[in-house]
Amino acid sequence: MSSLRSNNGPRIKYTPDDSPYEAISVDKLTPIIGAEIGDVDLREPSNRQMDEIHRALAENLVVFFRDQHLTPREHLDFGRRFGDLHLHPAAPSEPGLPELMIIHADKDSFRANGEGWHSDVSCDPEPPMGSILYIKKCPPRGGDTLFANMYAAYDALSDRMKTYLEGLTARHSGEHYRGQYKNYGVADKESYPYADHPVVRTHPVTGKKALYVNKGFTKYLNGVPRDESEGILSYLYEHMASPLFQCRFRWQENSIAFWDNRCVQHHAMWDYWPHTRSGNRVTVAGDRPF
Ligand code: SIN
Repeated sequence: MSSLRSNNGPRIKYTPDDSPYEAISVDKLTPIIGAEIGDVDLREPSNRQMDEIHRALAENLVVFFRDQHLTPREHLDFGRRFGDLHLHPAAPSEPGLPELMIIHADKDSFRANGEGWHSDVSCDPEPPMGSILYIKKCPPRGGDTLFANMYAAYDALSDRMKTYLEGLTARHSGEHYRGQYKNYGVADKESYPYADHPVVRTHPVTGKKALYVNKGFTKYLNGVPRDESEGILSYLYEHMASPLFQCRFRWQENSIAFWDNRCVQHHAMWDYWPHTRSGNRVTVAGDRPF
């Protein structure tokens, strides 16, 4: 792993906006990513609280809420306050609620969701803007989720690498979904989405640049030889996985994490077998990356 120091101290220097919040409390996990939000009941947030949640998400990239008690429909309604909801191309959902994805692993599972760094469903031509995960059953220990700041990962690249990546696109594919959910009785589709996206995308709200390739979905860089693509992608994956860009969230029952897929990658730990971890994800639709 490369050192992310320069001769002038850390290669990224963040100066967060410390102006106060008035309708919610915001407790940062790290200066670089993640904040726990308090003093709000997500069943009935006021307009002022919603504005501040938007601000906290833009500033912290992933926000966490504890001790929330939402019905499935309230969870979906909270998601709809951020936009239309996204339908997962493969994963199982709760009966009659196609937008409420099931997140579940137990002693009989042969896989768990989200093991490995990724941005949700980046194979879609219009990948999700954000994901709102509500965990209702936790293992006694473990099952944490790691989040990484892709603005910071981009900022910490050398100017030469930034120039190299400028204008490049990469192929993202969902073909690995084939067979993945067969233990839930989900039949395979004839085909799964794929799309070409810029390697560096511009966030439509903050205007900042973020690295947008991930191990879960990105297959290759377009327009360069395959061996070069593999070399560059493996460098970028190692670089973006630096702990400097990360926070790690320890779940409790009835916690919610809301992350912005446009500038965050996440990685769920399956270190709790044979215990059960279970909940639902509501995913907010997004735009074509530019
Ligand atoms: C996912 O949505 O990728 C799963 C994340 C998690 O279970 O923590």
